[in-house]
Amino acid sequence: MIANGEIWNHDDAEKCRAVSGCSDLLVGRASLTIPDITGMILERRGAIPWSSVLRLMIELGERDLANGKWKYYPSRLKQWLNYLRKAYPEVQGLFARVRVIKDADAIVKAVARDQKKVSLI
Ligand SMILES: Cc1cc2nc3c(=O)[nH]c(=O)nc-3n(C[C@H](O)[C@H](O)[C@H](O)COP(=O)(O)O)c2cc1C
Repeated sequence: MIANGEIWNHDDAEKCRAVSGCSDLLVGRASLTIPDITGMILERRGAIPWSSVLRLMIELGERDLANGKWKYYPSRLKQWLNYLRKAYPEVQGLFARVRVIKDADAIVKAVARDQKKVSLI
């Protein structure tokens, strides 16, 4: 038996475990909102910084495109950016820029430009 629903941090996970009696939990939306949510829960720490999220986004994007997922990549990434907005206000500018781009390669390049800007700060 696995419990899930509205787990967004360590306290939510503990509460879900206590109420349900389940040893295993499933995290849905929060895993898209906070990519490192499992580490955050298990190690009782804050979310990874935006610069790390951007690095992960580029890695995953390059992997998707290398695996021929051009067709799905733009809409999937836009959905992901939308989820990220809840935890990372920094996503706003990137979301606005990427929203109007349809080409997968151009989107990866836009993310890479943001990552370069962030790493210069
Ligand atoms: C991107 C995404 C895909 C999901 N796909 C499925 C699915 O295929 N089948 C299913 O039963 N639930 C699916 N769910 C629902 C989750 O398993 C979960 O029940 C729901 O998101 C509530 O948990 P949460 O509050 O942690 O998001 C999906 C949720 C998300 C966010």
